Amino acid sequence: VVVDESNGMEKLVLKSEQGAIAEVYLHGAHVVSWQDATGKDLMFTSKQAIFKPPKAIRGGVPVCFPQFGQLGPLGQHGFARNTKFDLLQETADSATLVLKAVGDEDEKYPYPFELTVRVQLGQQGHAPTFTQEVAANNTGSEEMSFTAALHTYFKISAIGNVAVSGLDGVTYTDSLQGGQRMQQSGDVIFDQEVDRIYLAVPDSGVQISDSGSGAVFEVHKAGFPDAVVWNPWVAKAQAMADFGDEEHKEMLCIEPAVAGSGPYKLAPGETWSGSQTLVYKAA
Ligand code: BG6
Repeated sequence: VVVDESNGMEKLVLKSEQGAIAEVYLHGAHVVSWQDATGKDLMFTSKQAIFKPPKAIRGGVPVCFPQFGQLGPLGQHGFARNTKFDLLQETADSATLVLKAVGDEDEKYPYPFELTVRVQLGQQGHAPTFTQEVAANNTGSEEMSFTAALHTYFKISAIGNVAVSGLDGVTYTDSLQGGQRMQQSGDVIFDQEVDRIYLAVPDSGVQISDSGSGAVFEVHKAGFPDAVVWNPWVAKAQAMADFGDEEHKEMLCIEPAVAGSGPYKLAPGETWSGSQTLVYKAA
Protein backbone atom coordinates (compact mmCIF):
# COMPACT_ATOMS: atom_id res chain seq x y z
CA VAL A 1 0.00 0.00 0.00
CA VAL A 2 1.37 3.42 -0.90
CA VAL A 3 0.01 6.85 -0.11
CA ASP A 4 -0.71 8.95 -3.18
CA GLU A 5 1.05 12.22 -2.40
CA SER A 6 -1.30 14.28 -4.52
CA ASN A 7 -4.32 13.42 -2.36
CA GLY A 8 -3.17 11.54 0.78
CA MET A 9 -5.19 8.44 -0.12
CA GLU A 10 -3.96 4.85 0.09
CA LYS A 11 -3.62 2.90 -3.12
CA LEU A 12 -2.07 -0.20 -4.64
CA VAL A 13 -0.04 -0.19 -7.82
CA LEU A 14 -0.26 -3.48 -9.72
CA LYS A 15 2.02 -4.43 -12.57
CA SER A 16 1.70 -7.32 -15.01
CA GLU A 17 4.72 -9.30 -16.19
CA GLN A 18 4.41 -7.53 -19.53
CA GLY A 19 4.41 -4.07 -17.93
CA ALA A 20 0.74 -3.08 -17.83
CA ILE A 21 -0.18 -1.11 -14.71
CA ALA A 22 -3.35 -0.63 -12.66
CA GLU A 23 -3.94 1.56 -9.63
CA VAL A 24 -6.51 0.58 -7.04
CA TYR A 25 -7.58 2.79 -4.13
CA LEU A 26 -8.64 1.20 -0.86
CA HIS A 27 -11.45 3.77 -0.86
CA GLY A 28 -14.25 1.98 -2.71
CA ALA A 29 -11.84 -0.74 -3.97
CA HIS A 30 -11.80 1.77 -6.77
CA VAL A 31 -9.62 1.09 -9.80
CA VAL A 32 -8.63 4.52 -11.12
CA SER A 33 -6.30 3.58 -13.93
CA TRP A 34 -5.29 0.78 -16.24
CA GLN A 35 -2.42 1.40 -18.62
CA ASP A 36 -0.81 -0.82 -21.22
CA ALA A 37 2.95 -1.46 -21.22
CA THR A 38 3.56 1.70 -23.27
CA GLY A 39 1.85 3.83 -20.62
CA LYS A 40 -1.29 4.44 -22.68
CA ASP A 41 -4.38 5.01 -20.54
CA LEU A 42 -7.07 2.43 -21.25
CA MET A 43 -9.49 3.71 -18.63
CA PHE A 44 -10.81 7.24 -18.30
CA THR A 45 -10.56 9.21 -15.07
CA SER A 46 -11.70 12.83 -15.10
CA LYS A 47 -9.13 15.58 -14.71
CA GLN A 48 -11.68 17.07 -12.31
CA ALA A 49 -12.19 13.89 -10.26
CA ILE A 50 -12.39 14.62 -6.53
CA PHE A 51 -10.15 12.46 -4.34
CA LYS A 52 -11.82 13.17 -1.06
CA PRO A 53 -13.64 10.37 0.79
CA PRO A 54 -16.48 9.62 1.07
CA LYS A 55 -16.93 11.09 -2.42
CA ALA A 56 -16.77 8.49 -5.21
CA ILE A 57 -14.01 9.00 -7.75
CA ARG A 58 -15.13 10.06 -11.24
CA GLY A 59 -13.65 7.46 -13.54
CA GLY A 60 -11.96 4.08 -13.56
CA VAL A 61 -14.33 1.50 -12.10
CA PRO A 62 -16.64 2.58 -9.28
CA VAL A 63 -18.10 -0.55 -7.67
CA CYS A 64 -21.83 0.07 -7.38
CA PHE A 65 -23.20 -2.04 -4.51
CA PRO A 66 -25.63 -2.90 -2.93
CA GLN A 67 -27.56 -0.73 -5.38
CA PHE A 68 -27.21 0.29 -8.99
CA GLY A 69 -28.40 3.82 -9.78
CA GLN A 70 -31.74 4.57 -8.18
CA LEU A 71 -32.97 0.97 -8.25
CA GLY A 72 -33.64 0.81 -4.51
CA PRO A 73 -33.96 2.90 -1.36
CA LEU A 74 -30.30 3.97 -1.10
CA GLY A 75 -28.47 6.95 -2.52
CA GLN A 76 -27.29 6.75 -6.15
CA HIS A 77 -25.21 3.58 -6.81
CA GLY A 78 -25.17 2.40 -3.18
CA PHE A 79 -22.42 3.00 -0.63
CA ALA A 80 -19.55 0.62 -1.49
CA ARG A 81 -17.93 3.25 -3.71
CA ASN A 82 -18.02 5.68 -0.78
CA THR A 83 -16.51 3.29 1.77
CA LYS A 84 -12.96 2.25 2.51
CA PHE A 85 -12.11 -1.42 1.92
CA ASP A 86 -9.47 -3.51 3.70
CA LEU A 87 -6.65 -5.17 1.82
CA LEU A 88 -6.86 -8.97 2.05
CA GLN A 89 -4.10 -10.02 -0.32
CA GLU A 90 -1.70 -8.46 -2.78
CA THR A 91 0.69 -9.87 -5.37
CA ALA A 92 2.64 -8.00 -8.05
CA ASP A 93 -0.26 -8.20 -10.50
CA SER A 94 -3.34 -8.75 -8.33
CA ALA A 95 -5.13 -7.49 -5.26
CA THR A 96 -8.08 -8.62 -3.19
CA LEU A 97 -9.97 -6.13 -1.05
CA VAL A 98 -12.93 -6.62 1.25
CA LEU A 99 -15.68 -4.51 2.68
CA LYS A 100 -17.17 -6.01 5.83
CA ALA A 101 -20.41 -4.14 6.10
CA VAL A 102 -21.91 -4.51 9.56
CA GLY A 103 -25.35 -3.20 8.67
CA ASP A 104 -25.13 0.32 10.05
CA GLU A 105 -23.56 1.94 6.96
CA ASP A 106 -26.96 3.22 5.86
CA GLU A 107 -30.15 2.97 7.90
CA LYS A 108 -32.01 2.08 4.72
CA TYR A 109 -29.89 -1.04 4.30
CA PRO A 110 -29.45 -2.75 7.69
CA TYR A 111 -28.04 -5.96 6.18
CA PRO A 112 -24.52 -7.11 7.04
CA PHE A 113 -22.50 -8.50 4.14
CA GLU A 114 -18.97 -9.07 2.96
CA LEU A 115 -18.10 -7.71 -0.45
CA THR A 116 -14.83 -8.98 -1.91
CA VAL A 117 -13.30 -7.29 -4.95
CA ARG A 118 -10.37 -8.89 -6.76
CA VAL A 119 -8.38 -7.26 -9.55
CA GLN A 120 -5.99 -9.27 -11.71
CA LEU A 121 -3.84 -8.08 -14.60
CA GLY A 122 -2.97 -10.53 -17.35
CA GLN A 123 -2.20 -10.96 -21.00
CA GLN A 124 -3.79 -12.78 -23.97
CA GLY A 125 -1.26 -12.99 -26.78
CA HIS A 126 -0.16 -9.37 -27.20
CA ALA A 127 -3.29 -7.98 -25.56
CA PRO A 128 -3.29 -6.84 -21.94
CA THR A 129 -6.25 -8.05 -19.89
CA PHE A 130 -7.97 -6.69 -16.81
CA THR A 131 -10.10 -9.01 -14.70
CA GLN A 132 -12.27 -7.89 -11.81
CA GLU A 133 -14.28 -10.29 -9.69
CA VAL A 134 -16.77 -9.36 -7.01
CA ALA A 135 -18.37 -11.69 -4.49
CA ALA A 136 -21.08 -10.72 -2.03
CA ASN A 137 -21.75 -12.92 0.96
CA ASN A 138 -24.79 -12.37 3.16
CA THR A 139 -23.31 -12.52 6.67
CA GLY A 140 -26.58 -11.61 8.37
CA SER A 141 -29.63 -13.57 9.45
CA GLU A 142 -32.13 -12.05 7.05
CA GLU A 143 -32.51 -12.23 3.30
CA MET A 144 -30.89 -9.26 1.57
CA SER A 145 -31.55 -8.03 -1.94
CA PHE A 146 -29.22 -6.01 -4.11
CA THR A 147 -28.48 -4.57 -7.50
CA ALA A 148 -24.92 -3.83 -8.62
CA ALA A 149 -22.58 -2.72 -11.38
CA LEU A 150 -18.93 -2.46 -12.32
CA HIS A 151 -19.21 1.09 -13.64
CA THR A 152 -16.30 0.92 -16.09
CA TYR A 153 -15.12 4.13 -17.78
CA PHE A 154 -13.23 3.38 -21.03
CA LYS A 155 -10.80 5.88 -22.54
CA ILE A 156 -11.37 6.34 -26.28
CA SER A 157 -9.88 8.53 -29.02
CA ALA A 158 -13.12 10.43 -29.65
CA ILE A 159 -16.74 9.57 -29.03
CA GLY A 160 -17.59 9.95 -32.74
CA ASN A 161 -15.07 7.23 -33.54
CA VAL A 162 -16.56 4.45 -31.45
CA ALA A 163 -19.18 1.79 -32.05
CA VAL A 164 -20.30 -0.80 -29.53
CA SER A 165 -21.16 -4.11 -31.17
CA GLY A 166 -22.61 -7.30 -29.74
CA LEU A 167 -25.87 -5.77 -28.54
CA ASP A 168 -27.85 -6.07 -31.78
CA GLY A 169 -31.36 -7.33 -31.01
CA VAL A 170 -30.96 -6.95 -27.24
CA THR A 171 -33.82 -5.33 -25.30
CA TYR A 172 -32.94 -2.30 -23.21
CA THR A 173 -34.69 0.13 -20.93
CA ASP A 174 -33.96 3.73 -21.76
CA SER A 175 -33.29 5.66 -18.56
CA LEU A 176 -33.75 8.92 -20.49
CA GLN A 177 -37.30 7.87 -21.51
CA GLY A 178 -38.63 6.85 -18.12
CA GLY A 179 -37.40 3.29 -18.53
CA GLN A 180 -39.22 2.68 -21.80
CA ARG A 181 -38.37 -0.71 -23.31
CA MET A 182 -36.63 -0.60 -26.68
CA GLN A 183 -34.72 -3.01 -28.87
CA GLN A 184 -31.19 -2.36 -30.11
CA SER A 185 -30.72 -2.45 -33.85
CA GLY A 186 -27.11 -2.72 -35.06
CA ASP A 187 -24.21 -1.12 -33.22
CA VAL A 188 -24.58 1.51 -30.50
CA ILE A 189 -23.16 4.82 -31.67
CA PHE A 190 -23.09 8.09 -29.75
CA ASP A 191 -24.38 11.41 -31.05
CA GLN A 192 -26.38 12.38 -27.97
CA GLU A 193 -26.73 11.40 -24.30
CA VAL A 194 -27.06 7.64 -23.88
CA ASP A 195 -28.18 6.03 -20.61
CA ARG A 196 -29.51 2.52 -21.12
CA ILE A 197 -29.80 -0.75 -19.28
CA TYR A 198 -29.37 -3.62 -21.74
CA LEU A 199 -31.09 -6.71 -20.36
CA ALA A 200 -29.87 -10.31 -20.49
CA VAL A 201 -26.74 -9.42 -22.42
CA PRO A 202 -24.55 -12.26 -23.80
CA ASP A 203 -21.48 -12.81 -21.60
CA SER A 204 -19.08 -12.46 -24.53
CA GLY A 205 -19.32 -10.59 -27.81
CA VAL A 206 -19.72 -7.01 -26.63
CA GLN A 207 -16.88 -4.86 -27.87
CA ILE A 208 -15.90 -1.26 -28.42
CA SER A 209 -14.27 -0.55 -31.78
CA ASP A 210 -12.39 2.73 -31.97
CA SER A 211 -11.76 3.77 -35.59
CA GLY A 212 -9.58 6.66 -34.42
CA SER A 213 -6.96 4.41 -32.82
CA GLY A 214 -7.82 1.14 -34.56
CA ALA A 215 -8.07 -0.43 -31.10
CA VAL A 216 -10.75 -2.78 -29.80
CA PHE A 217 -11.87 -3.41 -26.23
CA GLU A 218 -13.56 -6.76 -25.65
CA VAL A 219 -15.90 -6.93 -22.67
CA HIS A 220 -16.44 -10.41 -21.22
CA LYS A 221 -18.63 -10.83 -18.17
CA ALA A 222 -20.09 -13.51 -15.92
CA GLY A 223 -22.69 -13.41 -13.17
CA PHE A 224 -23.94 -9.98 -14.23
CA PRO A 225 -26.98 -10.43 -16.51
CA ASP A 226 -27.22 -6.84 -17.74
CA ALA A 227 -24.97 -4.13 -19.12
CA VAL A 228 -25.42 -0.39 -18.77
CA VAL A 229 -24.19 1.88 -21.56
CA TRP A 230 -23.67 5.52 -20.65
CA ASN A 231 -22.30 8.73 -22.10
CA PRO A 232 -23.43 11.95 -20.42
CA TRP A 233 -23.04 14.16 -23.52
CA VAL A 234 -22.86 17.95 -23.31
CA ALA A 235 -25.49 19.15 -20.84
CA LYS A 236 -24.84 16.46 -18.21
CA ALA A 237 -21.06 16.88 -18.61
CA GLN A 238 -21.48 20.56 -17.81
CA ALA A 239 -23.76 19.79 -14.87
CA MET A 240 -21.31 17.42 -13.16
CA ALA A 241 -18.87 19.29 -10.91
CA ASP A 242 -16.27 16.52 -11.08
CA PHE A 243 -16.31 16.07 -14.86
CA GLY A 244 -14.86 18.37 -17.53
CA ASP A 245 -17.24 20.13 -19.91
CA GLU A 246 -15.63 18.44 -22.91
CA GLU A 247 -14.68 15.12 -21.35
CA HIS A 248 -17.71 13.24 -22.65
CA LYS A 249 -15.77 13.21 -25.94
CA GLU A 250 -13.07 10.92 -24.58
CA MET A 251 -15.00 8.30 -22.59
CA LEU A 252 -17.85 5.91 -22.52
CA CYS A 253 -19.11 3.53 -19.86
CA ILE A 254 -20.03 -0.10 -20.30
CA GLU A 255 -21.08 -1.52 -16.96
CA PRO A 256 -21.76 -5.20 -16.31
CA ALA A 257 -24.74 -4.98 -13.97
CA VAL A 258 -27.46 -6.61 -11.96
CA ALA A 259 -29.95 -3.92 -12.84
CA GLY A 260 -33.14 -4.41 -14.86
CA SER A 261 -32.91 -8.19 -14.37
CA GLY A 262 -32.62 -7.68 -10.61
CA PRO A 263 -32.82 -7.20 -7.76
CA TYR A 264 -31.12 -10.42 -6.76
CA LYS A 265 -31.86 -11.96 -3.40
CA LEU A 266 -29.31 -13.59 -1.11
CA ALA A 267 -30.36 -15.87 1.74
CA PRO A 268 -28.29 -15.80 4.94
CA GLY A 269 -24.92 -17.42 4.28
CA GLU A 270 -25.37 -17.34 0.51
CA THR A 271 -22.80 -15.85 -1.89
CA TRP A 272 -23.26 -14.26 -5.31
CA SER A 273 -20.34 -13.55 -7.57
CA GLY A 274 -19.82 -11.71 -10.82
CA SER A 275 -16.86 -10.69 -12.94
CA GLN A 276 -15.64 -8.86 -15.98
CA THR A 277 -12.58 -9.39 -18.14
CA LEU A 278 -11.52 -6.60 -20.47
CA VAL A 279 -9.14 -7.32 -23.32
CA TYR A 280 -7.40 -4.41 -25.05
CA LYS A 281 -6.38 -5.14 -28.63
CA ALA A 282 -4.26 -2.32 -29.98
CA ALA A 283 -4.30 -1.65 -33.74
C1 BG6 B 1 -24.73 5.50 -14.86
C2 BG6 B 1 -26.19 5.82 -14.77
O1 BG6 B 1 -24.52 4.17 -14.54
O2 BG6 B 1 -24.03 6.31 -13.92
C3 BG6 B 1 -26.40 7.29 -15.07
O3 BG6 B 1 -26.90 5.00 -15.69
C4 BG6 B 1 -25.58 8.14 -14.12
O4 BG6 B 1 -27.78 7.61 -14.95
C5 BG6 B 1 -24.12 7.70 -14.20
O5 BG6 B 1 -25.71 9.50 -14.48
C6 BG6 B 1 -23.19 8.44 -13.26
O6 BG6 B 1 -23.62 8.34 -11.94
P1 BG6 B 1 -22.89 9.10 -10.79
O7 BG6 B 1 -23.65 8.88 -9.55
O8 BG6 B 1 -21.50 8.53 -10.70
O9 BG6 B 1 -22.83 10.56 -11.20
